[in-house]
Amino acid sequence: MSASTALIDVAALSRDQARSELARLAAAVLRHDRAYYIDDAPKISDAEYDALRHRNAAIEALWPDLVRNDSPSARVGAPPASGFRKVRHPQPMLSLDNVFTDGELQEFVDRVRKFLNLEPTAEITVAAEPKIDGLSASLRYEDGELVAGATRGDGRDGEDVTRNLRTLAAVPKQLRGKPPARLEVRGEVYFPIASFDRLNTDQLAAGKRAFVNPRNAAAGSVRQIDPVITAERDLGFYVHSWGEVSEPLGDTVSEVRDRLSGFGFEVTPGTAVCRQVTDMVAYGERLYAGRSELGFDVDGIVYKVDRLDWQERLGASSRAPRHSVARKFPAERAKTRILSIDVQVGRTGALTPVASLRPVTVGGVVVARATLHNRDEIDRLDVRAGDLVTVQRAGDVIPQIVEVDRDARPETSAAFVFPEHCPVCGRRAVREPDEVVIRCPAGRACDAQAFQQLVHFVSRNAFAIDGLGERQLRAFWDRRDIREPADIFRKADDEMWLEALSGEKGWGATSVHNLRAVIHGARDIAFERFLFALGIRHIGQGNAAQLARATESLARLMDLVDQAHDPETPAYAELAGVDGIGAAQIRSLVAYFADPATRPIVEHLLEAGVNVEKAEAPPADSPLAGRTLVFTGTLAGLSRNEAKARAEARGARVASAVSAKTDYLVAGDGSGAKRRKAEALGVTVLDEAAFRELLEG
Ligand code: IVH
Repeated sequence: MSASTALIDVAALSRDQARSELARLAAAVLRHDRAYYIDDAPKISDAEYDALRHRNAAIEALWPDLVRNDSPSARVGAPPASGFRKVRHPQPMLSLDNVFTDGELQEFVDRVRKFLNLEPTAEITVAAEPKIDGLSASLRYEDGELVAGATRGDGRDGEDVTRNLRTLAAVPKQLRGKPPARLEVRGEVYFPIASFDRLNTDQLAAGKRAFVNPRNAAAGSVRQIDPVITAERDLGFYVHSWGEVSEPLGDTVSEVRDRLSGFGFEVTPGTAVCRQVTDMVAYGERLYAGRSELGFDVDGIVYKVDRLDWQERLGASSRAPRHSVARKFPAERAKTRILSIDVQVGRTGALTPVASLRPVTVGGVVVARATLHNRDEIDRLDVRAGDLVTVQRAGDVIPQIVEVDRDARPETSAAFVFPEHCPVCGRRAVREPDEVVIRCPAGRACDAQAFQQLVHFVSRNAFAIDGLGERQLRAFWDRRDIREPADIFRKADDEMWLEALSGEKGWGATSVHNLRAVIHGARDIAFERFLFALGIRHIGQGNAAQLARATESLARLMDLVDQAHDPETPAYAELAGVDGIGAAQIRSLVAYFADPATRPIVEHLLEAGVNVEKAEAPPADSPLAGRTLVFTGTLAGLSRNEAKARAEARGARVASAVSAKTDYLVAGDGSGAKRRKAEALGVTVLDEAAFRELLEG
């Protein structure tokens, strides 16, 4: 990017100049945001800063198709500081599954009842609470003394923000009463609305910029390098759950709340106990109607099974507990115009139409782009460039266009024509039978796909390489420094390259030092993350986790996949026995590891020193560890799902069909064909009592 474009009048910029000027402005605004929000040391005046943003907006208005993903018009505030120490959570900090309708709330309760094998009429008491719109954090206490505080991070590893959290008045440094020797509480750091308003008034009075919403301000305040800034911000902390504890805290959610507040914590206020789904719905309606009176932002309701012995039995999937569920408040909407519709190519080749919008604030966030998903969606909405549309945003969900105002359509508008060729590599696009998605079939030979795979590779749930986002990768990609994942690690070892980088615009000795440290730290990676990071089609986070657990090591997975070309092989059967893995997933794995364009990606990563940690072995002392189980018939005391979850937690693999590889058939009432097959094959048949003994053993 040449410095000279900065001097050219907006109207006189050529297309190429406009593109590089937008890149320069995005980088400049980001740099000044960092200086302002993170270092608290602005390098230019507010007027100069505003001029940069204005210039960016003016160029975008003239060249709407050049609007960048990282455009300052779509982003408000600075990315938080990197450089906090990573800490592993003793137990993962999970997320919550969402429900959207009364019917789904009923289904949640039914699912719990079924899992626990309760009578259809059995009452399930549920604790209902406000879902606080803040930043989740955990606090660890030893013998009543605060020893550590961490952000949620990716759920497995958070950031050590102990010094910052200590400054909050609502975070007790020493607990009262008789807390367990080891106690980890979890909760939400939030900005009380009154404090948030005061902060913004002060910001404006001091000639500084206002924060967009309380949640962003809370997150930015916790992740400050200097805890003094955190201390000045008047943040609150509500405890809503707990992690590792050395002794039980009570029998129900309600009891635990009372105990925690006895230790000196502030627990989520405005809770209620519901006995029927109708009570749960009514609670939600009351909370929604009264939300502006609460004094803090709430983005929904959390419902939790009240009995903790039931919570324990219900357990969790890799993502979320089965005992709780969130119901988000209805989405917020706003109207704006579509500036253009562009087709983007994703990492699996999907051609996705995306609308560039005249920036509009929806639910406290500025939205400048919205996905149109696919060609069918464009036809369904009959949406065109220039249209006035209603945009909706629900929680963290990507903004969506829900309605087109046909009366406000410009007379000159033309229907959108979906391209027949990939807009990046020019290959003819294909639509597979029964699929709505239209794809570029070129794979890594298409630059857009190879690039998006890199973006996915560094993303939060994959290698989580902070400081190497799409913008930085784009620059390295364009000059051919980073073209495949292993290049990231090669460059981090290349002292000359790093040295040269630290002299470049947008970089400096500190940011290069940090980047290098993050990349080095990322070398040791959990198997499931590694597998997810490869971006293999149909292998999302859930499937990657299941495969990692089932096969334990990368070498073994590759071995199985190499033998699974033929569906008749035991390797194929073993893969197909993994939860969530079917023909589509196996086909995709086989293709990935057989393709000379993709297999070397893995080999090069290993050569570059990436160390794929083995999946955590299940408890080795359990008699079920490593055994393959099949269930048949009905068990009296356990639902099939609970039996399966408990067996898996003890290290067993649960398959659906009996084969010579089956170790045990657990036979309940009414078992027939499977039992006969097991007996014929000499497989040990267990009755319910024997199975329970193995579970305990
Ligand atoms: S219970 C598995 N209760 O919402 C985590 N969470 O969307 C269960 N949250 O990461 C925690 N208010 O940080 C619980 N009253 C509340 C909550 C709450 C906000 C957050 C929590 C979690 C996120 C999931």
